[in-house]
Amino acid sequence: MANVNIAGLGKNYGTFRAVSDLSLKIEEGEFLIFLGPSGCGKTTTLRMMAGFIEPDAGRIRIGARDVTREPPHRRNIGLVFQNYALFPHLTIFENVAFGLRRRKVAEAELRNRVGEALELVKLSHLADRLPKQLSGGQQQRVAIARALAIRPDILLLDEPLSNLDAKLRLQVRDELRSLQKSLGITTVMVTHDQEEAMSVSDRLVLMQAGVIEQIGSADELYNMPANRFVADFIGRTNFLRGQAADGAAFRTEGGLLLQTSIQRPGSQEVLIRPEAIRLTRQETADNVNCFKGRVDRCVFLGGMMELDIDVAAGGRLKAIASPRELDFEGIPPRAGAEIFISVASKDVVPL
Ligand SMILES: Nc1ncnc2c1ncn2[C@@H]1O[C@H](COP(=O)(O)OP(=O)(O)OP(=O)(O)O)[C@@H](O)[C@H]1O
Ligand SMILES: [Mg+2]
Repeated sequence: MANVNIAGLGKNYGTFRAVSDLSLKIEEGEFLIFLGPSGCGKTTTLRMMAGFIEPDAGRIRIGARDVTREPPHRRNIGLVFQNYALFPHLTIFENVAFGLRRRKVAEAELRNRVGEALELVKLSHLADRLPKQLSGGQQQRVAIARALAIRPDILLLDEPLSNLDAKLRLQVRDELRSLQKSLGITTVMVTHDQEEAMSVSDRLVLMQAGVIEQIGSADELYNMPANRFVADFIGRTNFLRGQAADGAAFRTEGGLLLQTSIQRPGSQEVLIRPEAIRLTRQETADNVNCFKGRVDRCVFLGGMMELDIDVAAGGRLKAIASPRELDFEGIPPRAGAEIFISVASKDVVPL
């Protein structure tokens, strides 16, 4: 267990800046997620932390140690990658023992630690098998056990779940999260799965083109996005361009006049989250930001429906509602339904 302090970290590949001036403090025992589009520098950052890529600029400290120039095996970091990377000719036991043998841990201690690590991921009964005799999810748990067996200060995981099917992914994700909490091990994981990122992390680091766009809890990134990129990347969003009108009103380019909390004058963009849009059969009693519309498209997503709505006054909005909610309002969940939409003024969020 240790904290991590990264300051001014940078990496160029030739003239291309993969990571630039990245600074970040990770708390002891924290579960931090790196999130961002493909090619934004997540793996490069993680590999610099692990010591496999040498940074062109900046420093990395783990606890009190400056490890910037230290080779990977001196950093005491546990690593898990996307493609399990187990040794195919070694048993599960020997795979987990690998790092300990390299560290010349005595046999009795080694047996203890491997046993303990396999117990943690609930695979003790498969210790004598070869990797190919295990399912994908089991192999990935072995990779996690192998990383934990060395009792690392920090655990780094690069898309460890992306080869698993949806159900297994959820299961291993939850196991990983509770393991991380019970061991209290400082963990950094890369993913581009938003839901995964939001559900396991203490904090998220959202990157784009080699820089950090925002660091914060899932709630902060969702409800207080630092900029348009963050708002667009996290969750679904309606963006509306327009002009601040008189008082706290905003006129969209599509022609809607919205009551907002905007104080800034001039041309700008606001966002409305789809779940903030209320659908009713009749106009709402207060009639605030209430508009007539027509459902153009309706997609069933399991517990929720996603609806594209053409607003009579102009423009198109995406809304999310539960089938029960629609049923309660007497709205048929299909294209063509005539409805009213309304949005509280606090949910018209200036960017
Ligand atoms: N060895 C290399 N030589 C040149 N360019 C590289 C090298 N490794 C990575 N890059 C480039 O650096 C950028 C960042 O790569 P990186 O692997 O860190 O992205 P990532 O965020 O992990 O993406 P993904 O989600 O696809 O895994 C990419 O544009 C990539 O093409
Ligand atoms: Mg990557």
